[in-house]
Amino acid sequence: MLLSDTQRRKQDESSDTLFYDTPRFVTHVDEGFIDQLTQLYRQRLQPGSRVLDMMSSWVSHLPEDVSFAHVEGHGMNEAELDRNPRLDHYFVQNLNENPRFELEDASFDAILNTVSVQYLQQPEIVFAEMRRMLKPGGIAIISFSNRMFPHKAIQAWSNSSELGRIELVKNYVRATPGFAEPEAIINAPTSSSIFQLFGLPSADPFYAVIAEAVQPLTRSTNETA
Ligand SMILES: C[S@@+](CC[C@H](N)C(=O)[O-])C[C@H]1O[C@@H](n2cnc3c(N)ncnc32)[C@H](O)[C@@H]1O
Repeated sequence: MLLSDTQRRKQDESSDTLFYDTPRFVTHVDEGFIDQLTQLYRQRLQPGSRVLDMMSSWVSHLPEDVSFAHVEGHGMNEAELDRNPRLDHYFVQNLNENPRFELEDASFDAILNTVSVQYLQQPEIVFAEMRRMLKPGGIAIISFSNRMFPHKAIQAWSNSSELGRIELVKNYVRATPGFAEPEAIINAPTSSSIFQLFGLPSADPFYAVIAEAVQPLTRSTNETA
């Protein structure tokens, strides 16, 4: 077992559905972070491919001049998803109540998860689902910074250092059959922690874990339930 029951707990154990009931038309990270993420998507996503933006909102941070065959959106607030101009279709689902997606096996070239992985209480099932939905050769890009809704993040996240969180996400990938050894991109200016120490504004650190789907899966993870 990757996480203990305690490590999956949140300070606020009320349903996430209540917390995300109100739309938040804000960006959760600074412009520098978003620029780096959009640049990463430009490098790693194929134009004309099929993308799932999971745990999404009113923004997907995709390069404006790149078009995709289909961008599926998943999130928690319908008004946010409805306003997201990049989504061709979307659905709302609480992954802490139902971690399995009603989406086809091997139906996406890329799965994006932006500044949200810290809220997953059953990451092993969700990552197995991500792998199931990816085509062989497809990639998952999980990006995060050091910001969060602290009462909604799992304890394993809150209690880890920033580097420990990268290791945690890599371990989610490593625990999932059919993913290659994950790659991590780290851009945390050393000055940022010193700025924070003095309560001064600093750039958001940028972290991304990239996982490639390597081997064809022989059966759907839905069948293992
Ligand atoms: C900080 S926002 C990030 C939204 C978006 N990815 C972005 O970059 O703006 C966190 C997101 O995590 C998702 N989320 C949080 N708890 C969730 C849950 N229990 N089930 C599914 N999604 C959840 C929601 O979509 C929420 O908008």
